[in-house]
Amino acid sequence: MSVEFRLDGRIVQVDDDSLTLLDAMREHLGVRAPKDGCSPQGQCGCCTVWVDGAARVSCVTPVRRVAGREVVTTDGLPEPVAARWAGAFTDAGASQCGFCTPGIVLRLASLDARGVSGGRRLDEPAIRTALAAHLCRCTGWQTIVEAAGAVLGVPVGRSAGEAREAEGAGRAGEGDGRAERHADAMDVAAEGSPAPPRDSLLESWRAQLEGPAFQVSDRQTVLGHAGFADDTAPPGARVAVPGPDGSLVVGADLADARRRSGKVQGRNSPVPLRHPVALAPGDWALTLQTTWVEPAYLEPDASWCVPGGRPAPPLANGGAFGGKRTSPVPGLARRLADELGGPVRVVWSREDVVRLGPKRPPVALGLAADGTGVMRVACTPGSVALDPLVARVAQVAPGLRVELVEVAGPPVSPDLRGAGWAEATVGLAVLGALAAGDAAPGSAVEARAPGGGRARVAVAPGGGVDVEVWAGEVLDEVVLRSYCIGAVHQALGWVRQEGIAVDDAGCVEDLTIRSFGVLSARDTPWVTVTLHHEDRFPVNGSDAVFAAAAAAAWLTEGLAPAWPTRRVAEARS
Ligand code: FES
Repeated sequence: MSVEFRLDGRIVQVDDDSLTLLDAMREHLGVRAPKDGCSPQGQCGCCTVWVDGAARVSCVTPVRRVAGREVVTTDGLPEPVAARWAGAFTDAGASQCGFCTPGIVLRLASLDARGVSGGRRLDEPAIRTALAAHLCRCTGWQTIVEAAGAVLGVPVGRSAGEAREAEGAGRAGEGDGRAERHADAMDVAAEGSPAPPRDSLLESWRAQLEGPAFQVSDRQTVLGHAGFADDTAPPGARVAVPGPDGSLVVGADLADARRRSGKVQGRNSPVPLRHPVALAPGDWALTLQTTWVEPAYLEPDASWCVPGGRPAPPLANGGAFGGKRTSPVPGLARRLADELGGPVRVVWSREDVVRLGPKRPPVALGLAADGTGVMRVACTPGSVALDPLVARVAQVAPGLRVELVEVAGPPVSPDLRGAGWAEATVGLAVLGALAAGDAAPGSAVEARAPGGGRARVAVAPGGGVDVEVWAGEVLDEVVLRSYCIGAVHQALGWVRQEGIAVDDAGCVEDLTIRSFGVLSARDTPWVTVTLHHEDRFPVNGSDAVFAAAAAAAWLTEGLAPAWPTRRVAEARS
């Protein structure tokens, strides 16, 4: 049966065939602005569109349900609306890789269209609540909230929150919203005069240092056209997907390939988080054990290739924080295209990414008071060599011996953000704070990254994070600030609640994107960033922020010896 509806202003028809609206748009109608981050879990929000003006997650919407209705993607937004949101997102640094962004723009623009959220006043908490339907790995939410505040005319930020509290307590808040918002936004320019006009080359240079991979966060990225591999695949290409055992199954199209492969379904398991590496014996002044952590990048691994061609990179716009550096999908696309004599797409679902992609290696760290100690690091059968991890730990913590311990589990990677050296840096920084008697919750902690970046971070027990960063020439304040805020978000999540269950046999049990424990917009505190302009070559700054924020967050968590602190505590209570 054919389904007819209006899509971005034109009448379209598609065979029902039990299709979801997302598959109808992406696979049959050539509209690729809505993204597939977790289909059909309906948990990441990347596929959000408007249906009759209301934001809807299209991967869980049967296409037959939109018969006769009006569907709008970012491609179909009225030009002034698209321009307003794209401008606000680029001005605020609210989009990095951009995979989550078009869905978020549509969600927030629907608030704009309605003016209120569920009968509530449109304020910062309402914006954060609207974002609960979405996930973003890169930005840490704050810059998105700032962009929304700018478009919606809503005061956001630490001072706006204080004004709301004062108002709630019956005292009048001081100043208008714009002034409050402006005061928070000025933290980046605290050391100098008004920011110069932005230069797109310098923006990309800074993004590449932080990513670390080429990245453009312009209007096209915000509106869903960053050139992701699975958006640029030629129509009619055959599609290969992994089956339950990981081997590839080829089909005429995505639906056919998934039908043949017997797609693994996402699930949240009751299996508790485990810390698979035991501490080395010793009389330690400080210990830390970590668990399996999913890199949680939003764009699943994908590539395509024509025979004899160069495969589309799965890192079209950003580095996935190291998570796709050794992704096999480009090589598979090239091999299959050559074998089959035609274009082939290789597409991993969210469940495939979790089952097959690399994790942050769990560690067990024991530190003596003099900074010597042992860090045991999990290494699993399918992993790439961990030599780079060992070398970076030696660089930041020469007194630490690294022991690789074979355990059953998913592949681990030394490429994930700060793997190994961040844990060592956290341990030494906290040890230093303890020795100095400056380890109370909320104390500032300083960390240096192997690449030369330096950061100082304080995480207040009641919320609120202060960051200072030294990363050489700043190049672009908006981009560096955005990455520093994202690094704080990632660090707080890592310490407090990120982790995936892996059973005793080494199988990953948590296959849904929400089970990773990424911090929501509502749970992310406000971050104030001060960028120090230095007269030296620019270096990565956000990795140092990541390590310093993790150490500072650990102090506020009372130095609980196993991460993620809050889930471990919950499991024990
Ligand atoms: Fe949100 Fe990358 S910008 S996931």
